[in-house]
Order: sequence, then C-alpha cells, then structure tokens
Amino acid sequence: MQIAIDGPAGSGKSTIAKLVASQLGFIYCDTGAMYRTATVMAHRLGLDYGDEAAIMTHLKDLEITFKPTPEGQLVFMDGVDVTHAIREPEATNNVSQVSALPQVREEMVARQRQIAATSDIVMDGRDIGTTVLPNADLKIFMVASVAERAKRRYKENVAKGIETPLDVLADEIEARDRKDSTRAVSPLREAADAIRIDSSAMTIEAEVATILKLVAEKR
Ligand code: DC
Repeated sequence: MQIAIDGPAGSGKSTIAKLVASQLGFIYCDTGAMYRTATVMAHRLGLDYGDEAAIMTHLKDLEITFKPTPEGQLVFMDGVDVTHAIREPEATNNVSQVSALPQVREEMVARQRQIAATSDIVMDGRDIGTTVLPNADLKIFMVASVAERAKRRYKENVAKGIETPLDVLADEIEARDRKDSTRAVSPLREAADAIRIDSSAMTIEAEVATILKLVAEKR
C-alpha cells in the first residue's frame, strides 16, 4: 500500500506521516530530507547551488540512507550522519534552489520510486501524489494557515534554542511556498484525487486518526 502526503512547508505533514507509518508498520520516506541532503552535499563540496552539472556529477554516486531509531529517523550521506546538518539554516535556505534543478528531481524521483517498490510506505513531500506515486492508494494534501505554520516553527525553534521573530518566520514560509509552487519542474500542487486536510485547528491525534480512518476505508 502506498500513502502519499503532500503539502507546503510547516503543514505538519512529516509529523503526521511518521506517526501514521509507525501505527501501520509501514516504512516512512521523508523526500524533503533527500533534497536537503543533496543541498548539504553541494555546500560541503563548495559547489554553487545552481550548478546542476557539478551537483549531478556528485549526486549520482551519493548514498542517502535512513535509519529509524527510537529518537527519530536518522539521515546518512555516504555513511555520515547529516540528520542535524540538513535542518540548519544553510540547507533550509538553499534547498528550494537545489530541488528546482530538473536533473536533481529526476534522480530523486527515481530513487523514491525504488524505495516505494520495496514495502508498504508512507511518503511525504511536495510532488508525491502528482509525480512520484501517481497511483498511490491514498493521497493526502495537508494545508494550514501561514500564521499557524509560523507559530509551529517558532515553537520548534525555541525548543532548539533558535530565536527568530514570528513575522520573519511567516515571511520565510510564504517565500518558500511561492518558490515551491511556482518552479517549472514538478511544483507543489494538489493531486486531483487527493483528500485535503486543513490542520490549522486540529490536534496531531485528530489528524492521525483522520488518515488512519481513510486508510481503513481503502483497505
Ligand atoms: O519538506 P521539507 O521542508 O523538508 O522540504 C525541503 C525542500 O525540498 C522544500 O523547499 C521543497 C523541496 N521538496 C521538493 O521539492 N519535493 C519533495 N518531494 C520534497 C521536498
């Protein structure tokens, strides 16, 4: 069974996707983490974020792997733990540029389909229901207001000791939405057959329960 969860930054999709996967015993694939890892690779090699040819030369042989642990999923780049590095501002602020490169997307989509072929899966991202897994059994499109998403990011940041004003976070979220929705290749778009869930006023438990009910109906 394939469950595709798409939505804009901060809509809560990865939190929900992880919980749904663990309740169902499915694997969870965080496709955003793959684009973020490519961005960290470019940075560590000193490559220009727009240099598609150079990025592709190195990305072709780059191994990106996930390891589930009780504390959360770890991400490795050629065996090196990049779980934290991929969430640093350097990666967050440049991943939109790297993920807009057509060949990078082609490579990642191929890898994502391979991963999905191995097991029942919950995959989250921006183009899962439209491009990566167009035949997914269930497609969810999660949305939440910019104000609510900024509030959530603010709380996460405070927990990590990062102090960014709420209005700056809201501006960043809007900018990223714009970039992700207007890029030429595989933009953030709701699949025609997706079910839209607005999480602005829902608890995490309610969102998970809603999706599990939809899964049960599909089964
Ligand atoms: O979900 P996230 O914030 O970790 O995603 C990071 C970036 O990667 C985001 O700016 C959009 C991009 N992305 C994408 O283009 N396609 C995906 N399937 C997943 C993420």
